[in-house]
Amino acid sequence: MVDLKTSYMGKTLKNPIIVGSSELCDSPEKVKKLEENGAGAVVLKSLFEEQIMMEVDAQRVNNMYGSYDDVENYVSFYTRKHNLDEYLSLVEKSKQGTDIPVFASINCISNGEWVEFARQIESAGADGLELNMFIMPNDPQTSGNEIERIYFEILEDIKKEISIPVAMKVSSYFSGMAQMLVDLSKTDLAALVLFNHFYQPDINVDKEEVVSGDIFTQPRDISNTLRWVGFLSDHVECDLAASTGVHSGYDAVKALLTGANAVQVASALYKNKPAYIKTMLQEIENWMQQKGYNSLNDFKGKLSYANVKRPMMYERAQFMKYYSNYTDL
Ligand SMILES: Cc1cc2nc3c(=O)[nH]c(=O)nc-3n(C[C@H](O)[C@H](O)[C@H](O)COP(=O)(O)O)c2cc1C
Repeated sequence: MVDLKTSYMGKTLKNPIIVGSSELCDSPEKVKKLEENGAGAVVLKSLFEEQIMMEVDAQRVNNMYGSYDDVENYVSFYTRKHNLDEYLSLVEKSKQGTDIPVFASINCISNGEWVEFARQIESAGADGLELNMFIMPNDPQTSGNEIERIYFEILEDIKKEISIPVAMKVSSYFSGMAQMLVDLSKTDLAALVLFNHFYQPDINVDKEEVVSGDIFTQPRDISNTLRWVGFLSDHVECDLAASTGVHSGYDAVKALLTGANAVQVASALYKNKPAYIKTMLQEIENWMQQKGYNSLNDFKGKLSYANVKRPMMYERAQFMKYYSNYTDL
C-alpha cells in the first residue's frame, strides 16, 4: 500500500487530489460526496467581490434610511439574491460534514471593503482561503506594473484580516511571470495555484456573434501548467497546486513530478462524475507501485527544471525542427 499523503497550505491531505472551485463544490451535500469518493480536499465555489460589495451597499442604505418600504425591498432584493450568509453556511456545514480540508474561495479584482468579509469566512471554519484573482490586462492605459501591484496589495490587506492560510489562483497573463510569482511566494502566501482557466470567447460565423467557447479544459491543456510548475517549483517559497488540464491520475503524477504539492481538478469531474476521483487515485497508486515509490516525496519535483537532464524541453517555444521535417506538405 503506497502512501499518498501530501502537505498543502499547512494541512496534511490524505492524497493530492483537490476538487477545484466550481459548482462541484457549491453545497455541503456535494462536498460530502466528493469526500466519500476520495477527494483529498475541496475548494468551495467562489464568492464574488461584487456580491460582497452589493451587500455592503445594501446595509449602508438600510442604516441611512431606516425602514422605508422601498429601501427594505431594495435591501431584501440584494440579500436574497446575493446571500452572504448562505456562503458562510456553506463553509460551516461543509466543514461540519467532512473530515477533509475545506478551502473557501473569493473572486477578487480590487482591494476594498470586501476584504473584511474574509474574517467571517475564517470564523465560519474554513481551513484556508483561495483568492481567485484575475485582472484582465486589456486597458491600454494601464501598465503591467500597476496591475501586478494590486495582487500584492490585496494579499497584504487580506492577511491583516485573517490568520488562516491564503492561496492565490492566478492566470498565466503576466509578462515577467517568473519574477512576479516568485515575489508573491515570498510574501505571506501559503500556496500558488497555477493556473485558472477562464470563460473563453468564440465566434459563431453563421450568426456573426461572439459566443462562449468550451468552458471545460482538455487533457492537452496541461502542457502550460507543467511548464510553469516545472520552472517555478525550484524557486517559489510556498506550495504549488497544479490546475488546468489535470484529467487523469497520470496527469496528477506529471504535475507532482514537476514539483506540485497537489493538483486541482474540475473539468474531468464535470465530465466523469465524482466517482472518477477513485479511478484517478488508483492510477496514481498503480504508477507508484510499478515504479517502486512508497510516498509522494520519493518522486515529487524529480522532473523540475533544475532536476532534468534536458531543461531545454521546458524552454523550447519554437517548432524549428518540425518545420524542417514537414517541408514537403
Ligand atoms: C463550470 C466551471 C465553474 C468554475 N467556477 C469557478 C469558480 O467559481 N472559482 C474559481 O476559482 N474557478 C472556477 N472554475 C475554474 C476551475 O476551478 C479550474 O481552475 C479550471 O477549470 C481549470 O481546471 P480543470 O482543467 O481541472 O478544469 C470553474 C471551472 C468550470 C469548468
